[in-house]
Amino acid sequence: MRFNDKVVVITGACGEIGKCIVESFMNEGALVVACDINERALQAINDNKDFNDKIVITEKVDITNEKEVVLTIEKITRDFGRIDILVNNAGIVRDRVITEMTEKEWDDVLDVNLKGAFFFCKHVARQMLIDGKGKIVNISSRAYLGNPGQANYSSSKAGLIGLTKSLAKELGPAGINVNAIAPGLIETDMIISHPKYEKIKNIHIKLSPLKRLGKVTDVRDAVLFMSSEESSYITGEILHVTGGRMG
Ligand SMILES: NC(=O)c1ccc[n+]([C@@H]2O[C@H](COP(=O)([O-])OP(=O)(O)OC[C@H]3O[C@@H](n4cnc5c(N)ncnc54)[C@H](O)[C@@H]3O)[C@@H](O)[C@H]2O)c1
Repeated sequence: MRFNDKVVVITGACGEIGKCIVESFMNEGALVVACDINERALQAINDNKDFNDKIVITEKVDITNEKEVVLTIEKITRDFGRIDILVNNAGIVRDRVITEMTEKEWDDVLDVNLKGAFFFCKHVARQMLIDGKGKIVNISSRAYLGNPGQANYSSSKAGLIGLTKSLAKELGPAGINVNAIAPGLIETDMIISHPKYEKIKNIHIKLSPLKRLGKVTDVRDAVLFMSSEESSYITGEILHVTGGRMG
């Protein structure tokens, strides 16, 4: 199996994309540490009978709180000795046009999407530097190219690309790959229940050469590739999972 005995840490593990990634890593032999702020959803992962014979450990952590992040990383390295793969997947949206956007809406999105990833990169990289290897995959978004009503989200996802490219240069000499995935519109419950779903969907399909929305499995496959040995000579890259849409 591709990820046999690899220790994989994933944030936002209880979301629709996160759960799909957790399940696939597990099925490919990894020891997965599923991190999320949502205690009830973490409990549901613990209670999932399908996972009983597989290895998934759940950790409640608010990724915007550096102390909690440090404690989580310390616990993981104490229990398992290392972290081979980090997937920074947690993300939130607080959409509003710029003239109405509040400071809190700006801060909340930047805190989770960018500062949370910074905290995890910082403390996981310390361990990876000792081990002299590792893979970091940051889930950005096609929104880094700009979306109306998403100044906060687009900025956070563009920032995540800057973080990825800087860390690729900084950590590459130590054998650590750092890459980003930029999904387009992915058909999750959150998107389907959006009040403007039909409009957003139609725009996406019009602008996408592949003429469909993405699936969570499309994102998962890109994450697994960037976490695997098959991408060992790739770093600082943005893998667009957008059906070809680039604007
Ligand atoms: N769904 C899409 O169309 C799409 C498109 C492009 C990029 N993305 C990105 O993919 C990632 C996953 O998206 P999703 O659709 O599964 O979202 P989701 O809302 O289903 O899941 C996000 C998860 O992050 C967790 N989270 C939020 N704040 C947190 C915090 N402070 N600490 C720890 N965990 C926290 C939530 O509890 C949730 O489980 C996000 O980064 C998102 O921006 C999604």
